[in-house]
Amino acid sequence: MVFSCSIGATFEVMSDPLHTQLCDKLGIEYPVVAFTHCKDVAVAVINAGGFAVLGEAMHTPDQIAAEVKWIRDRVGGKPFGIDLVLPASVPEEKTVEELLAMIPQEHRDFEQLIKKKYDVPAPKTAPELHTWGGLDQKRALAQLEVLFDEKVPVIASGLGSPAFMLDRAHGLGIQVWGLVGKARQAKKQIDAGTDVIIAQGYDAAGHTGNIGTFSIVPQVVDVARPAGVPVLAAGGVTTGRHLAAALALGAAGVWTGSLWLASRESDLNLPLKELLLEATAEDTVYSNAISGYTMRTTRCPWHNEWRSEEAPEVLKPPLQMMLSSDYIQGSLDYQRKDLMTEAAGQGIGYVTEMKPARQILSDIVEEALDVFDGFLSDDD
Ligand SMILES: Cc1cc2nc3c(=O)[nH]c(=O)nc-3n(C[C@H](O)[C@H](O)[C@H](O)COP(=O)(O)O)c2cc1C
Repeated sequence: MVFSCSIGATFEVMSDPLHTQLCDKLGIEYPVVAFTHCKDVAVAVINAGGFAVLGEAMHTPDQIAAEVKWIRDRVGGKPFGIDLVLPASVPEEKTVEELLAMIPQEHRDFEQLIKKKYDVPAPKTAPELHTWGGLDQKRALAQLEVLFDEKVPVIASGLGSPAFMLDRAHGLGIQVWGLVGKARQAKKQIDAGTDVIIAQGYDAAGHTGNIGTFSIVPQVVDVARPAGVPVLAAGGVTTGRHLAAALALGAAGVWTGSLWLASRESDLNLPLKELLLEATAEDTVYSNAISGYTMRTTRCPWHNEWRSEEAPEVLKPPLQMMLSSDYIQGSLDYQRKDLMTEAAGQGIGYVTEMKPARQILSDIVEEALDVFDGFLSDDD
């Protein structure tokens, strides 16, 4: 296609604006990456022409190995990724019981007060099954070992620099992707040899920094472009307009999380999906009350209480996460929509229908192509 501009110059325009460096690097059709904790969503997105990275930070090495096999059996040799959380500064290795015992009485009392005030049900499972006490290096390294054994095509590091694993991963033919919230983190990771950088903005679901997506993406692109490293834009991407904008900012694709939470394949329970389908950007909150790290989730009574004057100071990770986990699990086990919370980005307002993942992908792709067609149309 040839595009003429008002000063008479003509430009050759790529026939497929969605075919990016990322598509070539992975052999995929569309530059859309789904981050998900649900293996059915991952498989659906991969088989529809996108790419998926399965979040496995909460799982044991055996569970990870089983899920890797499950995916492999269903994607016919197509690539996929696994995401782990590899924080740089973690407490020394401790058992869940030892960590629980470190929570001060003042915080326990405040937790009990919230539980009583909102009649929060006790979780059905024992603490070690739903309490995220796993932020220790030993556990993370054991998880990583499985990914090396299985030679998963892509390892993504959701928190902390993946520099320490690069040589070994590359030796096995594994790509390593790093998620950053600041341009200087991107620079460090690129200098170390990270293959793809995910530039995640404040709009994003989950643990995130405080620079907006529209600011962080071009900053990271400027750092990554000279090194030829593709950048994925993350945070608030839930429509084709976002996808087109991300490419215009210089990204080679998008990394999306909230987009898939209420999909047909998603294993979230129905009241939680309803809550997400009803949520708008204003229903999300950026707070450290859930995990001790700043994190964007849907607002719930737990957040409101931790903002009150009576609230003690939020605990450092992983203790705050351990303190909030009974509340979170109880609300899920008993499907208490009035209490529930889930990680969700500011783009959640565009997630309004429970669609199959394949349709979500094709809708976002179609809309992005319409945007590019609009730019190139001679009509106006
Ligand atoms: C429910 C949920 C859980 C998440 N958990 C993780 C995680 O374990 N590791 C990680 O790297 N990112 C995690 N994220 C963040 C995503 O990787 C991604 O950066 C984010 O969802 C992008 O913003 P968006 O939701 O606005 O698309 C999570 C996101 C969601 C929605």
